[in-house]
Amino acid sequence: MTGPTTTAGSIVDRLWWTLPILVALVIVACTGEASLGPSSTAPVTPPSSRPSPAGPTTSSGVDQGVPLWQRRPTLPDVVTYRVDLPEHVRSDPLMVGETARLLDEGLLEADSPTRDAEAALGRVLFYDVNMSGGRSLSCASCHLQGNSFTDRTQFSLGTGGATTRRNSMSLVNLVFNENGRFFWDERVATLEEQAVDPFRDPIELGLPPAEVTDRILALDYYQPMFEEAFGPGAYQADEITMDRVALALAQFMRSMVSFGSPYDEGRVLVSSNLEDFPNFSDEENQGKRLFLTPVPEGGAGCAGCHSSEAFTTPPTGRGNNGLDPGDTSDLGVYEITGDESQRSSFRVSSLRNIEVTGPYMHDGRFRSLEEVVDHYSDHVADHPNLSILLRDLDGAPLRLNLAPEQRAAVVSFLLTLTDRDFLTDERFSDPFQ
Ligand code: HEC
Ligand code: HEC
Repeated sequence: MTGPTTTAGSIVDRLWWTLPILVALVIVACTGEASLGPSSTAPVTPPSSRPSPAGPTTSSGVDQGVPLWQRRPTLPDVVTYRVDLPEHVRSDPLMVGETARLLDEGLLEADSPTRDAEAALGRVLFYDVNMSGGRSLSCASCHLQGNSFTDRTQFSLGTGGATTRRNSMSLVNLVFNENGRFFWDERVATLEEQAVDPFRDPIELGLPPAEVTDRILALDYYQPMFEEAFGPGAYQADEITMDRVALALAQFMRSMVSFGSPYDEGRVLVSSNLEDFPNFSDEENQGKRLFLTPVPEGGAGCAGCHSSEAFTTPPTGRGNNGLDPGDTSDLGVYEITGDESQRSSFRVSSLRNIEVTGPYMHDGRFRSLEEVVDHYSDHVADHPNLSILLRDLDGAPLRLNLAPEQRAAVVSFLLTLTDRDFLTDERFSDPFQ
């Protein structure tokens, strides 16, 4: 190499060949939805650790120049969606009912080739942009693995530039959702019902059921997957039903179970979650105590609503969490039930992986966990349905007035709920990449 290497001309000369790679990277990063906005984060797609991809694809590498809707999925030979629960989850009295049912139904902790085949099909449907009206969106456009299957925008960009009405929800430990209702307004009771919703929604996928069937029939990579999941002959018009599509998606989402965080690593070392965890810093242990301890006993009382080892919805709703309703165009559960006591109540989503799921709340109003903790400490607003857990003895909205180091401790504790393996687990990753 001779001469100066810093002039614009020579940089262009030297780097022109990287252009196609850069373009390909941008396409990959945007999952076909280039307009998701600068704050959206690309899904984490780990390098393949499984041997010899087989089945639906014929090529071992993916040509990144091929548009998303023309790509074929690559699936591993064998993959198990079996879930084995750690002892602290199995024996959690707050989870026994739900986990017992799941174990009874053979949903967890059991090898099931049928369930595996259904979930593997669900994985492809989840990531396939052909499953949307304009062939540009998939479930994964708004539910990105690296963000625990939510996105980083306040409202998600859907079909034709329209945005969703609410903040996208993270999809984690949905099987442990104790009140068994889904969406911020708890409008559906099963994951199967839920999975049909985005197809019907003109802003989300906007693809009528008949077209879903047609699209699947036109994409031959679905043939082996349908036959494996539903038996020989399952790949024909009257056999490819919305029920089966929904079941496959539901099985995939049921298997998205996350118990591999530093919290879990500490939890198995002690007999009660109230004991200090040996793997935690003093600050994290302080935050854990504040989180778990009820307010009358000097804590911040978070576990009253974000309960159980899944840190999710308690069996019955706990009412409104004191967000200033601001404009009242979104009335939450009340919109579905018409029950006044549920006006402005929203689902308590899981706090697992909360570090990567912001912005927060049904309307994505808080950008950071610090803002969330400030809300519970200082800004709980009054409302006829404000939870009793967020009222003081006189019935006024609670003022925890947490000291700065207490706020920092609660945030540090929330960060221990991040399960990096879950965010990169190949079983949940994009098979089209
Ligand atoms: C355009 C963005 C978008 C697309 C596409 C999309 N979702 Fe969602 N998803 C959302 C939003 C926003 C919510 C919250 C909606 C609400 O509560 O009204 C949500 C909620 C959910 C929930 C509820 C989680 C809970 O804890 O209650 C599940 C499950 C889900 N989506 C799965 C899917 C599946 C499966 C697909 C594809 C078939 C899909 N989503 C497609 C944006 C999207
Ligand atoms: C009275 C029940 C209740 C208590 C107590 C409570 N929360 Fe919540 N929390 C909720 C509800 C309900 C939501 C969802 C509200 C919404 O989006 O409108 C929520 C949402 C959140 C979210 C955002 C979740 C997301 O996916 O966007 C975080 C983070 C959170 N709470 C942390 C905490 C912490 C930390 C504490 C203790 C200081 C706490 N919560 C106490 C009921 C509660």
